[in-house]
Amino acid sequence: MAGTKISKYLRLFAQLEKLTEKCTDPIARMATVNAILYHKMETFSWVGFYLLKEGQLIVGPYQGHLACQTLEKNKGVCWAGINEKKTIIVPDVHDFPGHIACDSHSRSEIVIPLLNREGELTGVMDIDSRLENNFDTTDGRELEKICRLIYRQAGN
Ligand code: SME
Repeated sequence: MAGTKISKYLRLFAQLEKLTEKCTDPIARMATVNAILYHKMETFSWVGFYLLKEGQLIVGPYQGHLACQTLEKNKGVCWAGINEKKTIIVPDVHDFPGHIACDSHSRSEIVIPLLNREGELTGVMDIDSRLENNFDTTDGRELEKICRLIYRQAGN
């Protein structure tokens, strides 16, 4: 099972590397990443980005159900990813104090900090699943790799 997941991530990463090669616009790349992950990873129910703007987390490109446009400061999983500057895996959102439920069917969640080329935090990638305990450290590592595509230089 784990083998299936990693081989899938490797295939999708190779595809995304090609798709994001020429256009360096981060928003265009985020949109491309969302479209691939949302449509190819069957257990992902929402895939998107929340971006830091003047101290607020504002929704960026996403795929899935309508989501909150802004997230109350220092509350929920996305803000935890920002404040701790690390990947947060939530096996059951009901057990995460302050979790912000944009989709009431969401059961587990992963948040990955997004860093630009200077290493500055610009926001997070956020993925929800309707399955409990859907994300593990393989997802964390592979999604961190995918996030590094967003700000890379053209063709490398
Ligand atoms: N659950 C997130 C809010 C964003 S939605 O999941 C799309 C949080 O607690 O920060």
